[in-house]
Amino acid sequence: MADKLIIFDTTLRDGEQSPGASMTRDEKLRIARQLERLKVDVIEAGFAASSNGDFEAVQLIANSIKDSTICSLSRANDRDISRAAEALKGAKRARIHTFIATSALHMEKKLRMTPDQVFEQAKQSVRFARNLVEDIEFSPEDGYRSDMDFLCRVIEAVIAEGATTINVPDTVGYAIPELYGTFIKTLRERIPNSNKAIWSVHCHNDLGMAVANSLAGVKIGGARQVECTINGLGERAGNCSLEEIVMAVKTRQDYFGLEMGIDTRHILAASRMVSQTTGFVVQPNKAVVGANAFAHASGIHQDGVLKARDTYEIMRAEDVGWSANKIVLGKLSGRNAFKQRLQELGVQLESEGDINAAFTRFKELADRKSEIFDEDILALVSDESIGHENEKYGFVSLSQHSETGERPRASIVFTVDGKEVSGSSEGNGPVDASLKAIEVHAKSGAEMVLYSVNAISGSTESQGEVTVRLQNSGRVVNGVGADPDIVVASAKAYLSALNKLCSKADRVAAQG
Ligand code: KIV
Ligand code: ZN
Repeated sequence: MADKLIIFDTTLRDGEQSPGASMTRDEKLRIARQLERLKVDVIEAGFAASSNGDFEAVQLIANSIKDSTICSLSRANDRDISRAAEALKGAKRARIHTFIATSALHMEKKLRMTPDQVFEQAKQSVRFARNLVEDIEFSPEDGYRSDMDFLCRVIEAVIAEGATTINVPDTVGYAIPELYGTFIKTLRERIPNSNKAIWSVHCHNDLGMAVANSLAGVKIGGARQVECTINGLGERAGNCSLEEIVMAVKTRQDYFGLEMGIDTRHILAASRMVSQTTGFVVQPNKAVVGANAFAHASGIHQDGVLKARDTYEIMRAEDVGWSANKIVLGKLSGRNAFKQRLQELGVQLESEGDINAAFTRFKELADRKSEIFDEDILALVSDESIGHENEKYGFVSLSQHSETGERPRASIVFTVDGKEVSGSSEGNGPVDASLKAIEVHAKSGAEMVLYSVNAISGSTESQGEVTVRLQNSGRVVNGVGADPDIVVASAKAYLSALNKLCSKADRVAAQG
């Protein structure tokens, strides 16, 4: 039987650390449920000690998800570890992931600790954690840039204290595939008790090699856990992308010879959900989940694919959640057809109430747009307002007037704590006027640091998906809105960002 490769998803922890990608507790739970559908082995739900919000999110996910192991990150100190254990109490399977930096640079400049102090603290922390939870992962932060002899000494000691997984982070994305693979191999060969732990890879994408490095860690180094995020979300250039690593190992089973538990048909829905929630748009040519990933534009390719699909396709689009059914839904489509398409797209809504809400939106959209594509449906069900009735701001209606040579004007009606208010304003353009009309009441004082519009399904008939990034008092949040009218989509995105600004608490960063 082939070895198993453990898929450890850290979208909700390392991915969320990306400025602007912060998520609310409920958003995290929705994504965790999608990760459970994907059959991810381990979900790193957050960093419980970093804030009350993160503690509650880890706790909620631990109490709700039963099929995946739930993990919390924790610095290597008793307080953080106790908080993690407390948040994980309700989990069917819990893991504490504790870390401390081991590179000379990090120890001296960041921690201001000697190697001996770091060694003692690593050992002591794993011993402490092991008394609370059986499944303990240890990461030497900046491991790849650490001295090999020192790293061997630390890892041998933490395995002796009971660490069950050893993760070797390339924290700054400095590694080269062959060198990283060999680094893991050497560690495993030199550490006498290395066979008592599962080895894991955790690669950042600063040089665009996170997936390649992780694969080398698996193939050359013998790692049997990969840490990754949906869409490669993460700080700076991001983390190793789940969809790419999973499809590489699956498509090249002949080379890797590894089994995974992942149900790949849920990949696309997970990708859409993460992109909608964070506002981090997926580039069209992104492997596996980009809009063009399975589109054959050149005549020669189209001809080849029609004659024999595998002339130009190495994966089946359906296997990652793109619908094989090309019938486009429209206003005559009923609830059953809609529900079936959701199933084909790998989307499972939480309750009948959520399905009804999504179906109502579908009908509203179908009245305004003759053909509803899969991308529209995915945007519709990822819409942040489903299941978020209790938020402070809600969109109601908008009208705007713009004419060449005149200054555009917009009037908007929206709810504040359930009560309707209206505002009007002029602006440089209709979008600017609409957002200024919101600010007449909201008075958020937030600065807009990003505004982007993306056509969901390509043409001018498409829905516009707008991302707005706001910054206020050092906090950065994203809001996303979709509508065939991009001015309305912009207003929805803006209100969604304001909701996030008023709902989040500050927190400590993992690498801070
Ligand atoms: O990149 C990194 O080093 C990390 C650790 C906290 C595991 O994310
Ligand atoms: Zn990381």
